Amino acid sequence: MKLAVACGLVLSSLLAVSSTAEQFDFFYFVQQWPGSFCDTWRGCCFPDTGKPAADFGIHGLWPNYAQCHGGDDDASFFSIVGRRGKCWPEYCEREDGNALSPWEIRDLVASLGRNWPTLSCRSGDSFEFWSYEWKKHGTCSNLRPHDYFARALALKAAHNLTAILAAAGIVPSDTETYSLSSVSDAIAAATGATANLQCNRDKDGQTQLYQVFQCVDREAKKLIDCPLHMRSRCSGDRVKLPLF
Ligand SMILES: *[C@@H]1O[C@H](CO)[C@@H](O)[C@H](O)[C@H]1NC(C)=O
Repeated sequence: MKLAVACGLVLSSLLAVSSTAEQFDFFYFVQQWPGSFCDTWRGCCFPDTGKPAADFGIHGLWPNYAQCHGGDDDASFFSIVGRRGKCWPEYCEREDGNALSPWEIRDLVASLGRNWPTLSCRSGDSFEFWSYEWKKHGTCSNLRPHDYFARALALKAAHNLTAILAAAGIVPSDTETYSLSSVSDAIAAATGATANLQCNRDKDGQTQLYQVFQCVDREAKKLIDCPLHMRSRCSGDRVKLPLF
């Protein structure tokens, strides 16, 4: 009962400010290795602009809560089927509308094309990818579209993951495997912040490094240590970084 009242108070205070600013705690800045995206059983398609460089590409910049709310997290401790609650805001309503306008990001399009290319087979138009990411996540970022995309590009440029890994001897290969700790240590040492790693499997079931989740402050400017552990799907200790 006391808890319910306390939750009610917290909720109403959240609602009171939610009309002006979206509440979240940090961003996940997610980059994907194209080789790992493409060589699963599902495959990939190159964008209309041609094959992207063999470089990490941006997947998204996602506002996230430090703690999931609204679910029965305690209950799920006892029962397997507890609701997980809401762990991030998405599809937020904005006074300036929710659709991304190509005009607003026109000066960023060339750079976005190189750094945030789609590999989806549904559409080769990367603008559709950016637009989807904007609607689902960007609308909750408290940033204007131009700042949202510009900051993601700035983060990627400031911490070139492909170069960071290469400097640690972690280079794309179809035969070599690397220890997960060597990957996370290289990123932490070069960026000053711990990241989360996510793996997937290639067609032969081999574990490969798929995405790097870096954590960023609410301004989308500064890296922070990731406050949460996530399910990494990195079974075993070693991963491939396949050629692309
Ligand atoms: C990142 O570094 C790699 C390897 O040094 C390089 O090929 C690539 O062009 C760099 N990416 C950007 C966006 O500068």
